[in-house]
Amino acid sequence: MPVAPKTSTDKAKIKFLLLEGIHPSAIAVLQAAGYTRIESLPGALSDEALALKIADAHFVGIRSRTQLTAELLARADKLVAIGCFCIGTNQVDLQAARERGIAVFNAPFSNTRSVAELVLAESILLMRGIPAKNAAAHRGGWQKSADDAYEIRGKTLGIVGYGAIGTQLSVMAESLGMQVIFFDVVSKLPMGTARPVATLRELLAQADIVTLHVPETAATNAMIGPDELAAMKPGSALINASRGSVVDIGALAQALRDKRLLGAAIDVFPDEPRSNREIFESPLRGLDQVILTPHVGGSTVEAQENIGIEVAEKLVKYSDNGTSTSSVNFPEVALPAHPGHHRLLHIHRNVPGVLAQINQVFSDNRINIAAQFLQTRESVGYVVIDIDAAHSDVALAKLADVPGTLRTRVLF
Ligand code: NAI
Repeated sequence: MPVAPKTSTDKAKIKFLLLEGIHPSAIAVLQAAGYTRIESLPGALSDEALALKIADAHFVGIRSRTQLTAELLARADKLVAIGCFCIGTNQVDLQAARERGIAVFNAPFSNTRSVAELVLAESILLMRGIPAKNAAAHRGGWQKSADDAYEIRGKTLGIVGYGAIGTQLSVMAESLGMQVIFFDVVSKLPMGTARPVATLRELLAQADIVTLHVPETAATNAMIGPDELAAMKPGSALINASRGSVVDIGALAQALRDKRLLGAAIDVFPDEPRSNREIFESPLRGLDQVILTPHVGGSTVEAQENIGIEVAEKLVKYSDNGTSTSSVNFPEVALPAHPGHHRLLHIHRNVPGVLAQINQVFSDNRINIAAQFLQTRESVGYVVIDIDAAHSDVALAKLADVPGTLRTRVLF
């Protein structure tokens, strides 16, 4: 049977490999926590170069270009956790990572403010008809007119999805004098004087600007189609900076050509170019009243800095204390400090009997357990045991032999 990898908390030995030019804010957080073996590279690595480097790393930080496949993870014997310094995590084989006892973290909320600011700016530009006036001016046109140009003060902003971005936007829009209504499938406490509405249709009928902030799910797939566009107030505007699948883009293009809507601002598309070298194709191209942006709602220098801090802090917490809350693939455990005790972390296959065998190790060796925490997620279990320092070497060695063990660590 292969020996399950063991890691200790000797910080000088723990290696962090950061790829793809992760913001220096991450390095600052790691150094402040006492970690010194940090290698930060500006770009992504080829698969072969990555396999060689990752074999020696306890933690790896990536952005969207590094693919961590099951094959690569099989060559990452020492790897404890992966930090995705971005929002998406589909570049990592999450299941393969879990089955190897590797926790994956990301930064889902670091760019909330960036998205909310863009949506607010677009609301003002759309209500003034600026996109079409701007496009005409670039061609030598001069559309000086107050027709169909409105202040946003007093207008109704309809927010679909009242989560991190929706609520932030709600506060900012009210501060500019907008009325805010929102629709969410979950009952949410309104910010300020925002009002929940019972149905999407109700929101569409009342809002001067409809803005979408829902996740990509079966229920949100094409949630704005021909019927919903027809249910919007004539002369209103639509903003989508959520996910490309949420709006039927062909139906939107038709509604705009029919002049039913004043305009739209779209940041996310069903088909997005995979790189800046590819051509962007969309039925919305050429419609002057539409602001088209290349999925940059959350892309700001500040967001990158916040992402660096958020993910590095999660890695430090997991490394120092075993806390795995907000991991996207791993059992989530929030742990207290463990002064005076050594903490054993045991990651195992989630099959009947493992916990009984772990506890047997302690009773057979007459080791007193000060605290124990267990959480499981799909195929993997994560048990944390605080014990007297004097016994941790013996206990760790025996725990590594428990059948089903994926990985063990001791923190002190
Ligand atoms: P969140 O999870 O905090 O909020 C989503 C809200 O939508 C929740 O309150 C949820 O209850 C609600 N919801 C879910 N299904 C719904 C449905 N069928 N109808 C109505 N409400 C529903 O998410 P967050 O952080 O506010 O992000 C929102 C969206 O923005 C996500 O799709 C995310 O991928 C996207 N996003 C886009 C960025 C960009 O660059 N354009 C950057 C960051 C996020």
